Amino acid sequence: MEIIKNTQLLEQKIKDYKKANKTIGFTPTMGALHDGHISLVEPSLAENDLTIVSIFVNPTQFNEKSDLEKYPRNLDADADLLSKAGVDILYAPSVEGIYPDGSDYEVDIDLGNMVKVLEGEHRPGHFDGVLQVVKRLLDIVKPDHLYMGQKDFQQFSLIQAMIQKLQLPVNLRVCPIKRAANGLALSSRNQRLSKEATLLGSIIYMTLDHIKNNFHQKTVSEWKKWAIDQLDNDWSEPEYFEFSDGYSLEDVELQENHQYIVASTAVWIEKVRLIDNMIIKKVD
Ligand code: PAF
Repeated sequence: MEIIKNTQLLEQKIKDYKKANKTIGFTPTMGALHDGHISLVEPSLAENDLTIVSIFVNPTQFNEKSDLEKYPRNLDADADLLSKAGVDILYAPSVEGIYPDGSDYEVDIDLGNMVKVLEGEHRPGHFDGVLQVVKRLLDIVKPDHLYMGQKDFQQFSLIQAMIQKLQLPVNLRVCPIKRAANGLALSSRNQRLSKEATLLGSIIYMTLDHIKNNFHQKTVSEWKKWAIDQLDNDWSEPEYFEFSDGYSLEDVELQENHQYIVASTAVWIEKVRLIDNMIIKKVD
């Protein structure tokens, strides 16, 4: 595996690959890699001539400076994991490599309410930073296929909307959430949980799964109340629990009115903010 830190060097290589008609699969990450990331890399390896993974802790998407500072960084361990998985190129740029001359590459598109709900409501400005960096990375890497996880449901929905609005020549593939044996969704933030909290964290999965299996038994507002009750303990505190339309992300009030419903939540455990979601209903 080649590790490239210099953006111009990567751009030159990409030009050569494109000339040779090679297909490129790309997964953007912020490092602190785990099996969830590898589950994004695997389909890329199977479907493309070349697989590129980026590691860049993007400062513009953190609304809390302390969260940015605490974000786990370990390039050597990450590189080891990616190399063993068979990744061709690890792109690990500096802040200047992504935002040269301090220019901010803001993405000027109106995604309406989709950016304002769920995580957007609780982390103002977060998605402006995500869209900005993903657009910039797509411009540099020029992938045929982009692999992202369902765990960040709103993130991939917004990126899909950006791809459509800007007619970017890339195909987004969404990969299922990878979970630990007890159901806890894999996340870089789990590194900050104690062993006990890692076990207790299964309450999030159990709550979502119970709703999925019994959805018709209560109304959406009854389920919301039930879920908040389940997640509110001495050791866990829900920040939100919402049912949204899986296409538009608008609030769901009556389940009968929607073909595609996703339940999303953010829960605090031991000062760590964990997000998770589950597709509760999808009629194809
Ligand atoms: O999901 C993430 O790790 C980040 O938001 C992403 C997509 C790499 C952009 O920085």
